[in-house]
Amino acid sequence: GMTRHYKFNVVEKNFTRLCSSKPILTVNGQFPGPTIYAREDDTVIVKVVNHVKYNVTIHWSALSNFSHQAMSDISSNRLRPFCRHGVRQLMTGWSDGPAYITQCPIQPGQNYVYNFTLTGQRGTLWWHAHISWMRATVHGAIVILPKRGVPYPFPKPDEERVIILAEWWKSDPEAIINEALKSGLAPNVSDAHTINGHAGPLSSCPSSSLDGFSLRVDKAKTYLLRIINAALNEDLFFKVAGHRMTVVEVDACYTKPFTTDTLLITPGQTTNVLLTADRAAGRYLVSASPFMDSPLVSVDNRTGTGTVQYTNSVSTSAAITTTKPPPQNATPVASSFTDSLRSLNSKLYPAKVPLTVDHSLLFTVGLGVNPCPGCVNGSRVVADINNVSFVMPTTALLQAHYFNVSGVFTDDFPGQPPMPFNYTSSGPGNVQTMNGTRLYRLPFNASVQLVFQDTGIIGPESHPIHLHGFNFFAIGKGTGNFDHKTSPSKFNLIDPVERNTIPVPSGGWTAIRFRADNPGVWFLHCHFEVHTTWGLKMAFIVDNGKGPNQSILPPPKDLPAC
Ligand code: C2O
Repeated sequence: GMTRHYKFNVVEKNFTRLCSSKPILTVNGQFPGPTIYAREDDTVIVKVVNHVKYNVTIHWSALSNFSHQAMSDISSNRLRPFCRHGVRQLMTGWSDGPAYITQCPIQPGQNYVYNFTLTGQRGTLWWHAHISWMRATVHGAIVILPKRGVPYPFPKPDEERVIILAEWWKSDPEAIINEALKSGLAPNVSDAHTINGHAGPLSSCPSSSLDGFSLRVDKAKTYLLRIINAALNEDLFFKVAGHRMTVVEVDACYTKPFTTDTLLITPGQTTNVLLTADRAAGRYLVSASPFMDSPLVSVDNRTGTGTVQYTNSVSTSAAITTTKPPPQNATPVASSFTDSLRSLNSKLYPAKVPLTVDHSLLFTVGLGVNPCPGCVNGSRVVADINNVSFVMPTTALLQAHYFNVSGVFTDDFPGQPPMPFNYTSSGPGNVQTMNGTRLYRLPFNASVQLVFQDTGIIGPESHPIHLHGFNFFAIGKGTGNFDHKTSPSKFNLIDPVERNTIPVPSGGWTAIRFRADNPGVWFLHCHFEVHTTWGLKMAFIVDNGKGPNQSILPPPKDLPAC
């Protein structure tokens, strides 16, 4: 692989959306931020310089493998292509990015060099700020092409495009969550959904028009669309009027191709589709609309829109062929999409599902209420996993683990629900939340089965759960309570989809398996930023192995201090 260098300047810049202008945090003045291009097995080195008045970290949803060679190249200032001829990559998470999990934040005026190797990964991933709500605007795509000369396992597209879905707030998202934490209430929803940074037509601004986002296509060409949901708090349906899309990859893992007119993408997830411009030349509506299967959440009609526009023959004022987005609570549409996903599981890209299980875990995930004398209703919304609402430490967990600093965390995170629970809101254990910085310890290379059970402490709601450091296989899902006796009989251990973010269905469960072959401290959290803020997060410690090249490397010299 090659070594690719990027420089990310975190700077404030004014952007005008929904008729008003405000400063937002950006990388290099761009919203969305710059795309990182690389090939499988390349090493990516990104120097992040913090020019703003807030602390910053960046997470790369790549697996954060790490190369000794690139490391010594950096320190000796010899930056040259890195060749990995048969040498196993050592792994460490110093470049993973979540604040206070793998690193202390980059303070104003400081910088940090992230270094990761894209071993065995190709497809679409993304990067985003991983501190507070900064990722609202600090995010961008990572496009990893296959190794030179290696074709895609699907028909070669004529062109490729990145499409990033996100949210826009008229006020400062940071202020919104701080206000919510003070009051104990839920934060405001965003004011618009954006497609590649363009807000849709629902703004009250007279000058705003439908064609903010426009994807120009040539008749008969096939496009590979690399679609990312970077929204803070919304699962999104994605549609293109009049066109069907063939799903070929999710979270940088190839899938068995299937054709659909609607995608469901949760925050954290990426979906690659082939779209052929095979309709009459014209303009077609693109929509990104919310999916919320919770009775808790009020109706949200904001739909991000844009157009697919056939080039040449069509004027920009031609009538637009429209499409109706699925209703907000279209659970059947969402689950039919999720249920259609399978690993490609070909000879070249086999699904290496762990067939035995060393650690069988059951995590309840949900929202609750804690007393809060100073809050508006005398209580505050909290969120937890197995009744533990995670408390962020003030120093990085990976450092505490690596240097054996005691008193930062405990490794007694419960592997099973500590109290009786129920998928409805009536479970007696559902309402009790304890605070703690508790981690779950796994030996190197352990095979882990993890069932996420939605418990709906307040009421059921779906949660897009994201695991750092690993891909996992989504081996099963169901409604109601997970049943240790009957549910596993329906597991798919042949070709389950492989990915890094999975929705736990509202009032149901989802099961995953992964192999803990990456030593370090790895964050697991709901990718709804508001739920993470409320405590729906925990971390795994994966111990070093005994063999050579199975230990965390020492931290880089420029690792920020707290
Ligand atoms: Cu995309 Cu921990 O996040």
